[in-house]
Amino acid sequence: MKKVLLIVGGGIAAYKACELIRLMRKAGIAVRCVLTEGGAQFVTPMTLAALSEAPVHTSLWDLKDEAEMGHIQLSREADLVVVAPATADLLARMAAGIADDLATTLLLATDKPVLAAPAMNVRMWEHAATRRNVAQLTADGVTILPPDEGPMACGEYGPGRLPEPEAILAAIQSALSPQRGTLAGRHILVTAGPTHEPIDPVRFLGNRSSGKQGFAIAGALAALGARVTLVAGPVTLPTPPGVTRIDVETALAMADAVQAALPADAAIMVAAVADWRVGAAAHKIKKGGALPDLKLVENPDILATVAKGPARPRLVVGFAAETDQVIAHAEAKLARKGADWIVANDVSGAVMGGDDNSVHIVSAAGVDSWPALTKAEVARRLADRIATTLNESRP
Ligand code: C5P
Repeated sequence: MKKVLLIVGGGIAAYKACELIRLMRKAGIAVRCVLTEGGAQFVTPMTLAALSEAPVHTSLWDLKDEAEMGHIQLSREADLVVVAPATADLLARMAAGIADDLATTLLLATDKPVLAAPAMNVRMWEHAATRRNVAQLTADGVTILPPDEGPMACGEYGPGRLPEPEAILAAIQSALSPQRGTLAGRHILVTAGPTHEPIDPVRFLGNRSSGKQGFAIAGALAALGARVTLVAGPVTLPTPPGVTRIDVETALAMADAVQAALPADAAIMVAAVADWRVGAAAHKIKKGGALPDLKLVENPDILATVAKGPARPRLVVGFAAETDQVIAHAEAKLARKGADWIVANDVSGAVMGGDDNSVHIVSAAGVDSWPALTKAEVARRLADRIATTLNESRP
């Protein structure tokens, strides 16, 4: 049985949460409710408890609750977290990462997809601050169900009404069943981040890859219903919802993890794998005396090994970070590595660690140059293109 954690915010639309709980229960979904202080001005814990047939949580400081079920556990045992209604204030605190009550603490602690259904006065919805917060939440991977347009409780007219419970239920059902997506049933392997090659127990050779683009791609593929294995180098980014993450440190460990994750329908190798490793010393190299003589050894080319190996995925995509002759180098790499596409980007600017990217997709069919986009948008477009290609080449 699928489980939803429903956070009921303050606002007159909170009454619709009662009907939503009833519809979810009827659809076979287990519901746990969290009621904010504002929400409790409009509906009672008793109502929500009776409808959900489960205890209702209201306070972070309820020690009995904390002993029985910590807030971390509460935020993670659900398959989906739904915020309905999401007030302007709640959206703002979510966007800022504030955790000053049970609801916002759960939202910060969860590793599950979050769906928010905002409801507020039309001016509040259209205010620049709310626009900014909604854009930030969307970039963070929160699904925002846009409010309906119509007459509002405050007498004004426009967008801001909580969608009808049936519409929220439909959004919940599609969030709970991503297998309906265009990548349903596909297994896709993604590598991301840098690798660290130890020099001795405290030092390493590394690079400036942030992992942001690869993580965004893994998340976008999972959002289309793919089973995604993300082999990640040392980065502190959160794991996108629905993605299985394997953390590695070195190129050799990444190569092993990639082989172990095969077979896959597609491999998207975004990681900035170190080209060389060091014959690492067992003890810390001391300063003074002769300069250390670092012997570099070539690392295996993971992309080429996968592209030319016996378990080659149907679609193999490599990345090329270049500072000059971006397309010419990518074309050469396409042939040399045996990849189907090379996604080339010019990293002479602030791409590494930044949020934007401007890429060219180089394949046997030619070069497709995309405008400058956010890394999240590059990821979404790439995931769509991968879905189209996989679905074309075999039903
Ligand atoms: O040759 P270069 O490092 O520029 O190629 C980049 C592409 O090759 C990326 O897709 C990267 O993930 C992959 N690669 C790899 N193993 C290496 C080096 C690069 O998979 N050892």
